[in-house]
Amino acid sequence: MKAAVYYENGDPSVLRYEDVPDPVCHPKGIVIRVEAVSIEGGDTLNRSRGALVTRPHVVGYQAAGEIIEVGSEVRDLRVGQKVATSNAYGSHAELRAVPARSAWVIPDGFSVKLASVIPVAFGTADDCLFEFGRLKAGETVLVQAGASGVGTAAIQLAKRAGAKVIATASSDERLEKLKPLGMDVGVNYRTHDVVSEVMRITDKKGVDLVVDPVGGSTLQGSILSLGYRGRVSMVGAAGREPMTVDVSSLMGGNRTLQGVFLGAEIGGDRAHDNIQRLINEAARGELKVVIDREFRLSEAAAAHAYIESRQAVGRVLLIP
Ligand SMILES: NC(=O)c1ccc[n+]([C@@H]2O[C@H](COP(=O)([O-])OP(=O)(O)OC[C@H]3O[C@@H](n4cnc5c(N)ncnc54)[C@H](OP(=O)(O)O)[C@@H]3O)[C@@H](O)[C@H]2O)c1
Repeated sequence: MKAAVYYENGDPSVLRYEDVPDPVCHPKGIVIRVEAVSIEGGDTLNRSRGALVTRPHVVGYQAAGEIIEVGSEVRDLRVGQKVATSNAYGSHAELRAVPARSAWVIPDGFSVKLASVIPVAFGTADDCLFEFGRLKAGETVLVQAGASGVGTAAIQLAKRAGAKVIATASSDERLEKLKPLGMDVGVNYRTHDVVSEVMRITDKKGVDLVVDPVGGSTLQGSILSLGYRGRVSMVGAAGREPMTVDVSSLMGGNRTLQGVFLGAEIGGDRAHDNIQRLINEAARGELKVVIDREFRLSEAAAAHAYIESRQAVGRVLLIP
């Protein structure tokens, strides 16, 4: 099969389009013919500095397509079904093997491209807001990196749950695209100080919950944006900065800094069922999957470079 691979970490130019051996189906797994790869923020970070657990390495968490092989011990999936899949690596390829547990059935008639985006972005946003963030109707949420894959999902899910949603992004143009998703107020962090803006918008109360996929100095701003009993769901390192923060403001306000990692939950029934629910809701038109642009799989280097140029709002796909 063809795949986008690399032999060493680095900028997007390390990606090459090559022939690699077809993946082998595990007795408890499936193999899919990939129809769409959703490039995750974690994929660009892994390419840049993650471990090469295979060599050459096929990066990538998320891909969707048609099942072409089912392992001998798999009872609930069959050849010909369309599924969205998630795994630690291997999405940037024409074929992909995953544990059956890491596949979700795409309802008949729903777009495989849209479904490819849902498990990690929406599953993570949902966990940040509800399972770990304990969001309630009437609360105010700050979504850092609102234009990211996780951010575009979090804005919608928070709004739907009855929250007021503040989101940040690096330009007014990017913020404008978040309004139809349910963002109430946008903060351009290049032109405005986020903490001051949050305090102005909330009449100095601060927010109840922050979803922070950026980390570093942004995470410090998230902590300082919290109101009494406020929570931060710290979920990523998109800012590529050291995670050194001052937590001294947490205790006095009964505030919480909570790490969230979907990967540790995704193998369990709760997260699996939750992701299937989110896919079904998107299929019914109740959630909007934001796709910015598509590239050919052979253009993976250009696609990664485009994402890192900070132009994408929502997801960029690779099509084999
Ligand atoms: N813990 C988990 O379970 C989990 C699950 C999913 C994702 N994640 C993590 O969450 C983060 C976001 O993932 P994603 O898929 O939503 O990412 P994405 O769609 O690629 O978006 C990342 C966003 O981060 C912002 N950003 C801020 N500083 C940046 C920098 N120095 N370089 C590049 N972008 C920067 C950019 O928006 P602006 O230009 O508007 O700032 C960009 O749109 C990643 O670190 C990812 O690994 C964690």
